[in-house]
Amino acid sequence: MAERKLILAFETSCDETSVAVVEDGTKILSNIVATQIDSHQRFGGVVPEVASRHHIEWITRCIDQALAEAGVDYSDLMAVAVTYGPGLVGSLLVGVTAAKVVAWAHQLPLVPVNHMAGHLYAARFVGEFKYPQMALLVSGGHTELVYMPREHEYEIIGETRDDAAGEAYDKIGRVLGVNYPAGKTIDEWAAQGQDTFHFPRAMEKEDNLDFSFSGLKSAFINTVHNADQRGEELNKFDLAASFQQSVVDVLAEKTLRALDQYPVKQLILAGGVAANHGLRTRLDREMAKHYPDVLMLQAPLKLCGDNAAMIGAAAAVNYQHGDRAALDLNAVPGLMFDRMKSM
Ligand code: KG4
Ligand code: ZN
Repeated sequence: MAERKLILAFETSCDETSVAVVEDGTKILSNIVATQIDSHQRFGGVVPEVASRHHIEWITRCIDQALAEAGVDYSDLMAVAVTYGPGLVGSLLVGVTAAKVVAWAHQLPLVPVNHMAGHLYAARFVGEFKYPQMALLVSGGHTELVYMPREHEYEIIGETRDDAAGEAYDKIGRVLGVNYPAGKTIDEWAAQGQDTFHFPRAMEKEDNLDFSFSGLKSAFINTVHNADQRGEELNKFDLAASFQQSVVDVLAEKTLRALDQYPVKQLILAGGVAANHGLRTRLDREMAKHYPDVLMLQAPLKLCGDNAAMIGAAAAVNYQHGDRAALDLNAVPGLMFDRMKSM
């Protein structure tokens, strides 16, 4: 039995190859992230086949670097953890296979982790978790409100019915000629413009906790195309600000509605889109005004995107709860939170 509680974590669900060493679920000893963005940019999005090949090329180098940077060896590890879903099947399989090989070769327990639980646990590096808890998880593939009555129990209480928020950012970014992934640039432009277009806020006032971003995306694209046909050029900063205001309004409104219905001690904000400055500031303001007693933990900017450190943090909790995978663990591209209870 290793003395230190060190977990070697793998994340390869999409287009980042990442390996990390995390101690006690709270301390990052190393977090290597090899991004493939350059290879996907010219296609305007992630090409699954290209992504899997990159993961294969990079994974062993990432393992070596993660161990070296952490200053540890395989014999110091307590467990190996891996994202097994949701994500792209070919990408997931590379991480799952690598993790299995390390677990088998070094006789270490293998801890399966849900990618979205991983995003949530990026906020664990900011402070201790208290339950009941609510999380707004916003990424390129998912937009959901998750209620956690207690540790290791996740209930999705609201989700997008069509596009994820990050996906909408990437699609409208493409129309404005912004390289994939567009979220960061649109966020920067939004800060320099005004909401002059007043795009729709779908489902904002509806009595449910779900989201929809495809109508907003279409309204945005139509506005730009119509102006193009008239030979008119619209102000890109105002377009970005208007789009972002709609997204942030809906996300904030539904989060407050969820907090009304589910009293909690903490609100977690995590996922790639949680890096959005407009969203962070808005939630800070709303929480101070309406829920001053609910502590908000926002995932650190550097850990909002996909990375293995967050997987290591989530894995530490799974490990304590006895989650172990056998060596026949498979990738589950459509993995949902309720599947975790049976793991
Ligand atoms: O969580 P993530 O790294 O990957 C998925 O699991 O999907 O999220 C990536 C998404 C992309 O759609 C990207 O455009 C978006 O997060 N994103 C942002 C910002 N930074 C990244 N969206 C809005 N504002 C940002 N600052
Ligand atoms: Zn992600």
